[in-house]
Amino acid sequence: MNKNELNKMVDFTGRTIAVTGGAGVLGSGIAKALLEAGANIAVLDLDKSQADAQFLNKGYDESRIITAGGNVLEPESMTQALDAIIAKFGKVDTLINGAGGNHPKSTTAPDKPFFDIPADAFKFVMDLNVLGSVVPSQIFARHFADNGEGNILNISSMNAFRPLTRIPAYSAGKAAISNFTQWLAVHLAQEYSPKIRVNAIAPGFFLTHQNRFLLTDEKTGELTARGKAIIDHTPMARFGNPEDLLGPTLWLLSPAAQFVTGTIIPIDGGFSAFSGV
Ligand SMILES: NC(=O)c1ccc[n+]([C@@H]2O[C@H](COP(=O)([O-])OP(=O)(O)OC[C@H]3O[C@@H](n4cnc5c(N)ncnc54)[C@H](O)[C@@H]3O)[C@@H](O)[C@H]2O)c1
Repeated sequence: MNKNELNKMVDFTGRTIAVTGGAGVLGSGIAKALLEAGANIAVLDLDKSQADAQFLNKGYDESRIITAGGNVLEPESMTQALDAIIAKFGKVDTLINGAGGNHPKSTTAPDKPFFDIPADAFKFVMDLNVLGSVVPSQIFARHFADNGEGNILNISSMNAFRPLTRIPAYSAGKAAISNFTQWLAVHLAQEYSPKIRVNAIAPGFFLTHQNRFLLTDEKTGELTARGKAIIDHTPMARFGNPEDLLGPTLWLLSPAAQFVTGTIIPIDGGFSAFSGV
């Protein structure tokens, strides 16, 4: 392989990538990197105003951007988004399922025992993290099957490998998404095309609004006991930055990973490899 072919692997010019939760911390970081790499980007988010604020009037080439409000739990909403992307760019090459998250009412604490977690809070988190990737995958994968190629990237988590204390619904949801990633990779390759790939990244611990005040003290900014335990169990001894996700993500979405499907790639500073001893 010559240098030109190697460089082309990270050149996404002419490829169209839809990112759900694309206004969020990790989704927007990934979408911006893909924009820089030449891709057309569709930013789909429940919060369209936040998607607009992140991507419009920011100096990006807006002919390569669509922002759309959309709910990943509603098939009609995802179908409308897919139609809008096809109308503008002709087809979609990649879906990144970036919408996800936890809910405070599904988290245990000394004054919030597991016994009292409301079923609707548990269900909210399971729905968002599981169906929130299943529904868009159903809509977009049909388009990939028609085209004979495509790429899906899910976002799993450390707690999919071994659950973290306090967050039973989020841990169960992410374990399900890792399992679904493997299932869908096999299904789409066998039933539709070996050129449709499905993978996941499993980020370690990134300070975002979802977890900031579990890991750092709201008033002092010091690490909480939980934040310190994480750093102590991370051989690289720091939290991740959104930029840490970019290289592995671009690789998974590029032809450099053309024989890679059904994987869950930890991006965690070694957390999942470390036994603690
Ligand atoms: N932050 C971390 O440390 C971390 C670690 C591992 C995995 N993750 C996962 O990465 C993904 C992104 O996390 P983040 O930290 O960027 O979160 P975030 O809260 O910053 O972004 C999530 C985005 O999803 C959108 N969203 C929520 N519900 C939606 C719905 N029903 N339909 C469409 N959009 C919806 C929100 O508006 C938000 O913009 C999530 O799946 C999260 O579970 C995060």
